Amino acid sequence: MGFLKTDKKKVEVKDGDKVIKAAEKLGVPFSCREGICGTCKVKVVDGYDNLAEKTSNEEFMDLKKNERLMCQCKLKSGEVKIKF
Ligand code: FES
Repeated sequence: MGFLKTDKKKVEVKDGDKVIKAAEKLGVPFSCREGICGTCKVKVVDGYDNLAEKTSNEEFMDLKKNERLMCQCKLKSGEVKIKF
């Protein structure tokens, strides 16, 4: 069991699960949900290594260091803090 969190709030995510539902609860905006539009891009401020590898869509997006797409990420385990 892990968590996706911001400065204000913390939402549970099961190990190995996608973080999309937790990110929605934290207020991250979404549009395509398929890793194409970039609407759900966030900065990971803590626990970056607790996320699984980037998906091919994230690679294609050419994200900056520590940026990830919340519709694509899976949690490995532990806590991940984001900013958006
Ligand atoms: S919602 Fe479009 S890239 Fe994630």
